[in-house]
Order: sequence, then structure tokens, then C-alpha cells
Amino acid sequence: MPSARDSLILILQHAYSGEVAAAYAYRGHWKSLKDSPEKTRIREIEEEEWDHRRRVGEWLEKLGSGPRKTREKVFWTIGRTLGVTCHVSGWFMPMYFAGRLESQNSVEYEDAAKFAAELGMDECVRDLLDMARVELEHEEFFRTVVAGHPLLPMMKRVFGWS
Ligand SMILES: [Fe+2]
Ligand SMILES: [Fe+2]
Repeated sequence: MPSARDSLILILQHAYSGEVAAAYAYRGHWKSLKDSPEKTRIREIEEEEWDHRRRVGEWLEKLGSGPRKTREKVFWTIGRTLGVTCHVSGWFMPMYFAGRLESQNSVEYEDAAKFAAELGMDECVRDLLDMARVELEHEEFFRTVVAGHPLLPMMKRVFGWS
């Protein structure tokens, strides 16, 4: 059984790289949209992902660890690729997968908070739960965006989100 500390570090390393992929994907996406409240909100979500990445990075440092180089490269590439894809694909798929990712992110931060609680890191617990809350807001936003789309029932059956 890995220790609570090792488990926390692992989740934070995943989250840290996940945030860069999300941030770049959102950047690509809002840039592909015309001025609208949706564009403004996704731009704001990008900012919130950078903020998460900064906070997660600080906790990793406090734990005497840091990002994983290979994971960073892979997720950076994923983010850039998704970002570019938004300019060529329709809006539904990127929005659907963004929502689904967000639902996983909030669970990830909640799991991390449990390990931080085991370690008595109260400030870290609060910070992680706050990030989980923001991820839930992101998920809610994307849920609203895709609601009522004709492809949604099929995607829900295959990928289980919404
Ligand atoms: Fe995030
Ligand atoms: Fe998010």
C-alpha cells in the first residue's frame, strides 16, 4: 500500500499536468468562438485552470516533489492538439469531452483532499476542496452548454456523462 503522502503526490502530479492540457484546450476553444458570453466564460475557465496549476505546483513543492517530466510533455501535447482541433471540429464534441473531464477533475481533487486530511495538512485540504468546487462549476457550465443537443443521449450511453 503506498503511503498517504505518496498517493497525494501522485494525484497532484496527475492534476498538475492535466491542468496544462485543459488550459491549452480551453484557450484554443475560446479563440475559435465569436464574441459571446460563452467565449468570455471559457476564457475565464482557462484562467482558473492556470490558477489551479499554480496552486497544485506549490503543494507539490511543499511536499518536496515536483511535476513528472514525461507526463508534462504528453499533456502539453494533448492540450495543444485539442486546442487546434477546436478550430476545425464542431463545438459539441470539445464541449462534451470538456464537461466529462471536469467531472473527473473534481473527483480527483476530492480524493487528494482525503489523503491531505490523513496527513493533517488542513490548509491543503481547504485548497483542494476549493479547487474541486471550481471544477464542479466548470462541469455545470459545460453541462448547460451541451444540454438538449441531439447527440447527447447517444454520448451519454457510450461515455456515461451528463
Ligand atoms: Fe482545474
Ligand atoms: Fe476545470
